[in-house]
Amino acid sequence: MSRADDKPAVLIARRLLPPGRDRLAARCELREGGLDVTPGDLLALAPGVAAIVADPTVPVGDALLEAAGDGLEVVANYAVGYDNIDLEACRRRGVAVTNTPGVLTNATAELALALTMAAARLINHAEAELRRGHWGGWDPGEMLGLELSGATFGVVGLGRIGCRYAELVSRFDGHILYAGPSGKPEIEKELGASHVGLDELLAASDVVSLHAPSTPETEHMISTAQLDAMRSHAVLVNTSRGSLVDSEALARALVDGRIGAAGLDVFEHEPEVPMHLLEAPRCVLLPHIGSATTKARSAMAALVADNVLAVLDGADPPNPVA
Ligand code: DGY
Repeated sequence: MSRADDKPAVLIARRLLPPGRDRLAARCELREGGLDVTPGDLLALAPGVAAIVADPTVPVGDALLEAAGDGLEVVANYAVGYDNIDLEACRRRGVAVTNTPGVLTNATAELALALTMAAARLINHAEAELRRGHWGGWDPGEMLGLELSGATFGVVGLGRIGCRYAELVSRFDGHILYAGPSGKPEIEKELGASHVGLDELLAASDVVSLHAPSTPETEHMISTAQLDAMRSHAVLVNTSRGSLVDSEALARALVDGRIGAAGLDVFEHEPEVPMHLLEAPRCVLLPHIGSATTKARSAMAALVADNVLAVLDGADPPNPVA
């Protein structure tokens, strides 16, 4: 480990909020890339660091690990998802990888609920029409959306965030289906949820909300066939990762009226938002703000510092990625 003045060097690839940054600054030499950092900048900042603080926009692979050198002990992701990190490359080098689970569960589930409601009731479209001066007065047949009370909610991936979303939507007194690798009997009991296969979930749900991680297996798990299996009024919500949804297929389904509406917080090649989605009807689009509450982002920053400092102290980090 290379340490100036006995302080380990930590590369904060982009930006870490004060609850984490200040704690690291007290004990480490910080090198900060800033929001506009380029991959080339990161390679130049990396040599000799003991820790790298990454985030979902920062790919961490062989090149960056190699540039950091043998003293690198930990890559701490400022996120719960870690698909930006080449875990195998870290394992080969004996570099620990950590994430920030738990503290963003409420924020992300709440945003999924907000997208569900906004998409179901065409809120962005209705507001845009009003702002453009296109409101001609109350019309019994206009802007008709999906009523959520009594609806069937299909939750794909019942991890922490999926569970919290299921709890929130259980207040609509409808039905909850969930798909995922394993059954969760305690949730079934608590919420009256049923574990079903993805095909059954898609066919039966009024709302489908995705909460699965980005892996090779989940890439485009929602494409033309799955969209065709959904009900024509159904709402698709994605607050997980853009790679889960084939966005061209989704845009076509919206244009053709084969599904009701969509609410998306994540995209395949962020920050790029595909034109076909921007132009698609009945589609609410947000700039990856699932965890963007002051409380969640501050707690995430603090967890990043906990993880980095634990590893640098030779202890087990609180949130190792399996
Ligand atoms: C995560 O934590 O993985 C989110 O996508 C960013 O908050």
